[in-house]
Amino acid sequence: MITIDEGGCASACLFAERYTWGVEKTFYIETFGCQMNAHDSEKVIGTLEHEGYMRVRDEADAGLILYNTCSIRDKAEQKVFHRLNEYKRLQGEGKRFAVLGCVAQQEGEKIFEKAPYVSIVSGSASYRRLPEMLARLEAGERRITGLDDRETEETFDTEFTARTNPHRGYITIVEGCDKFCAYCVVPYTRGRERSRASDSVMAEARRMVDAGYTEIQLLGQNVNSYCDPTGKLTFAELLAAVGGVGGIRRVRFMTSHPRDFTREIVAAIDAVPTLCDHVHLPVQSGSTRVLAAMNREYTREWYLERIAWIKAARREISMTSDIIVGFPGETEAELEETATLLEEVGYDAVFCFKYSPRPNTPAIAMADSIAEEEKSRRLQMLMERQREIQRKNYARHLGQAMEVMVEGHNAARGQVVGRSSQNKTVNFTVGQLILPAVGSYRMVRITETFPNSLVGEAVDG
Ligand code: SAH
Ligand code: SF4
Ligand code: F3S
Repeated sequence: MITIDEGGCASACLFAERYTWGVEKTFYIETFGCQMNAHDSEKVIGTLEHEGYMRVRDEADAGLILYNTCSIRDKAEQKVFHRLNEYKRLQGEGKRFAVLGCVAQQEGEKIFEKAPYVSIVSGSASYRRLPEMLARLEAGERRITGLDDRETEETFDTEFTARTNPHRGYITIVEGCDKFCAYCVVPYTRGRERSRASDSVMAEARRMVDAGYTEIQLLGQNVNSYCDPTGKLTFAELLAAVGGVGGIRRVRFMTSHPRDFTREIVAAIDAVPTLCDHVHLPVQSGSTRVLAAMNREYTREWYLERIAWIKAARREISMTSDIIVGFPGETEAELEETATLLEEVGYDAVFCFKYSPRPNTPAIAMADSIAEEEKSRRLQMLMERQREIQRKNYARHLGQAMEVMVEGHNAARGQVVGRSSQNKTVNFTVGQLILPAVGSYRMVRITETFPNSLVGEAVDG
């Protein structure tokens, strides 16, 4: 809430500048969900700032409050409605509210019924129209939607991205998803799959290097489904091209879908040293029957063939995965197939989720649902087996030297916190008083290993 100092012109003028529509042109944004949502928020922030809005760190100071939401699992969605209820506390202070992202697209105008104080409801496919939506908001409209663009061919490219990480820059190269896995909301919330032209990706990569970034992460729900609309580059060629931009030290890409995973990707990682030696290739289940029910369109064997390509690379490529436990009808034997697949692959990390029934998805109508406690038991069992795999995997690094990018400092322990090319967390000490800057690189020798992190000491002085 702003108060006016009636005695002074200076504050009255400031007031005139900051107010255009009864509330301040200040905004607060909170983001839930995946890295793509986080990066969308960077673009939304850049767009808002370009439209004359100022970002504030406290929602109490904001004229416009935006929530960029996730609906991948029920818990994520509930978080949003919890926040929406908190909005009530803030109404009556002249604030405006916007719900963006996957819950916005999924619930649409129903959000206005549940939370009448919300003024904008927009899915990610409509963010290109944000300036127009903001203009309507400023003109006094109170029910503005961006929900009809899921069939668009266009991507949300903007030069106004407000990058929040000064060293790792994100570039979304594929938006949306056409795969329609039986359990997943993404094709309904993010719309059809569309790729950004390779020239535009390369131009942004070069701009980022000029701005001082050394690590670039290419993003897409299925990043390797990339299909250059100009037909110039395949995904593997684009990877190699981005990796070849002078000044880049690390290129990551997330998430790869097994269906579109090619040998050329492995060959590119082998050939281009700046491409990080890590592939996140979610399998979801080790059972061919469950995979078919999930509509993943591959079998256990087919998936393991891709893993064999990765293992045959000259570089040691780290592999990570996502798993869903308790999909309707999953038997004890099928769960065991997932456990043995984890052991066969030897992942360095697994993100394991309890199946969550989602609106609009075919799986919600499937019989043989599994009780929550049973899902928890299955998750626990898999995680224990995976912990053992990681304990062995990480132990292999003992005594090795590896390059680490500094991400922060743990002052209490006198340690530097960073990440290896394989995306492993490395905590290390340096034999000097001044700690290396965030974003710099150091060679580190590993002296101790854990199932989720490595400990070492800098060896390059
Ligand atoms: N496009 C990626 C995954 C994106 S969603 C892929 O296909 O691999 C991220 C992860 O959330 C998925 O890999 C899956 O493991 C999990 N997930 C998606 N829908 C879910 C649901 N309904 N219940 C539980 N986990 C889910
Ligand atoms: Fe969801 Fe499947 Fe698309 Fe991944 S590939 S985003 S799991 S529908
Ligand atoms: Fe969530 Fe949407 Fe990402 S559902 S995981 S924010 S694509």
